[in-house]
Amino acid sequence: MEGVPREEIEALLDLSESYIEQNRQDDKKSSILRGRTLINVFFENSTRTRTSFELAGKRLGADVINMSVSSSAIKKGETLIDTAMTLNAMHPDVLTVRHADSGAVQLLSEKVTCSVLNAGDGSHEHPTQALLDALTIRRRKQQLDGLVVAICGDILHSRVARSNIYLLNTMGATVRLVAPKTLLPAAIDKFGVEVHHTMANGIRDADIIMMLRLQTERMQGSYVPSTREYFRFFGLDREKLTAAKPDALIMHPGPMNRGVEIDSELADDIHRSVIHEQVEMGVAVRMACLDIVTRNLSRNTNGNGS
Ligand code: NCD
Repeated sequence: MEGVPREEIEALLDLSESYIEQNRQDDKKSSILRGRTLINVFFENSTRTRTSFELAGKRLGADVINMSVSSSAIKKGETLIDTAMTLNAMHPDVLTVRHADSGAVQLLSEKVTCSVLNAGDGSHEHPTQALLDALTIRRRKQQLDGLVVAICGDILHSRVARSNIYLLNTMGATVRLVAPKTLLPAAIDKFGVEVHHTMANGIRDADIIMMLRLQTERMQGSYVPSTREYFRFFGLDREKLTAAKPDALIMHPGPMNRGVEIDSELADDIHRSVIHEQVEMGVAVRMACLDIVTRNLSRNTNGNGS
């Protein structure tokens, strides 16, 4: 999302709207990607993102292959490139790639001739997540411009936070980050955001509260005293929520740690939480992305539409 202009974001969101409708029909299948091959290459585990890309490809009529590669078996450098070259030789049209290392998806995209979609690289970016979040917000609040969005929790390890910061800044929203000092990146002042260290200040009068998972698998050492303590200060519960606007929406990219970053009952409150709507929007957004990159392919014989 870094550097993606406003018009492109808007065009993708507009196109996604039409796919929401398609996904709500009994017959969910169209054929615009008929004859195309999509390979999902996940070097890191995933439930919703992989399923979402798989459904998106299938609903557009593509042939979809899922490759799950245990991250422990994969080393950086030659192994990654070898995998990319091997897949490329099979003439896929699109690779969707998730990798535990920041920058790995970009590197891979430089070695192949097909389009590459980033399904999350390390703590760097997760662009389709930011797009689906934007679509969810835009449908509920009509626009992104002028909204106050509080992104709370483990910002340091979060590619979701980074992609959302880029997108929301581009779209004219005010972004507030709420986290303990240990869970913020060192160069946070370069992101053009407000930083808060208490939930009371951070979510005051916010329109949107985006909670993030404590990503313990990315932590070396201890970043919070205990999950109980973390919940007391940074977990979202009804009491803390009273600081936000009365119609503030609660979001979470999943997977959720109930009782760690979010109160379980609040996560299920259909009047406040749009967590399942985010998942629904994810399929539509990925359909729009697949649609766009394959359109570029037919116009560009080099085909590198990443
Ligand atoms: C996120 C991810 O993998 O970056 N999940 C997702 O794609 N919905 C967030 C997370 O893992 O906490």
